[in-house]
Amino acid sequence: MALVPISELLQKAEEGGYAVGAFNCNNMEIVQAIIAAAEAERAPVIMQASQGAIKYAGIDYIVAMAKTAAEKATVPVALHLDHGTSFEQVMQCIRYGFSSVMIDGSKLPLEENIALTNRVVAVARAVGVSVEAELGRIVGTEDEISVTEREAFMTDPEEARYFVEKTGVDALAVAIGTAHGRYKGEPKLDFDRLEKIRSLVKIPIVLHGSSGVPDDQIRRAIELGVRKINIDTNIREAFVEKMREVLAADPNEIDPRKILGPAREAATEIIREKIRLFGSAGKA
Ligand code: G3H
Ligand code: 13P
Ligand code: ZN
Repeated sequence: MALVPISELLQKAEEGGYAVGAFNCNNMEIVQAIIAAAEAERAPVIMQASQGAIKYAGIDYIVAMAKTAAEKATVPVALHLDHGTSFEQVMQCIRYGFSSVMIDGSKLPLEENIALTNRVVAVARAVGVSVEAELGRIVGTEDEISVTEREAFMTDPEEARYFVEKTGVDALAVAIGTAHGRYKGEPKLDFDRLEKIRSLVKIPIVLHGSSGVPDDQIRRAIELGVRKINIDTNIREAFVEKMREVLAADPNEIDPRKILGPAREAATEIIREKIRLFGSAGKA
């Protein structure tokens, strides 16, 4: 199958009341793990590449791997740019064949975020590519910020309504208490805020920083309208832990396939678990 825009997957998720997993990929083994998991669970899936992933693997390799994976797949697959920050980079991804993009103007003042997002939407719309935008700041778990600062970074529901009305984006990433990377303590999502956003915003909501969020909070977020859930850290952990395990068992192992093969399987397993948790298993 050809790569599909995320709007197509999220529309169905909206109707079915589940969320689609968006898994970050940086190399061939992780691309294969994402597809293997989606196939095994008969689930629609979003493969996403960050600017760092593009820098590491090369945009041509990322697109070629995703297209090869999607062509062989019997489930719908999207290739999405994760946290694109410049108009030029987003255009490059569209030109190379990404089926959807995120333009992250969340560090900009509101009107500048709207202006940048609008430029992207105008082009993406014309070529059938979906657009995700971000409002509020989703920080990293390593960022040293106070509780008040964290609160100030959260998405304002009224602003979210205004932003969606002014941009017409397909999906909106919101800051409701999650963070990128490994949590030090247990995250506590602001469900009242999510509920308010949901009542004012009628498009699919995206949850970033979802690795390490307890299952019950993920389920509640889906009940309240989250339709795309981003997972990177949990895949990294599973992949690298398995590599460490293999190397600890045999420090003389020099065959990369014997190290990366089991790591790929471990990644597949965690992705399958997430797909089941998100309710997208059996929805392809
Ligand atoms: O948004 C954060 C993702 O986990 C991507 O991380 O920029 O290190 O590839 P990265
Ligand atoms: P995690 O670091 O929680 O996996 O978040 C990934 C993410 O939001 C990618 O955009
Ligand atoms: Zn993110």
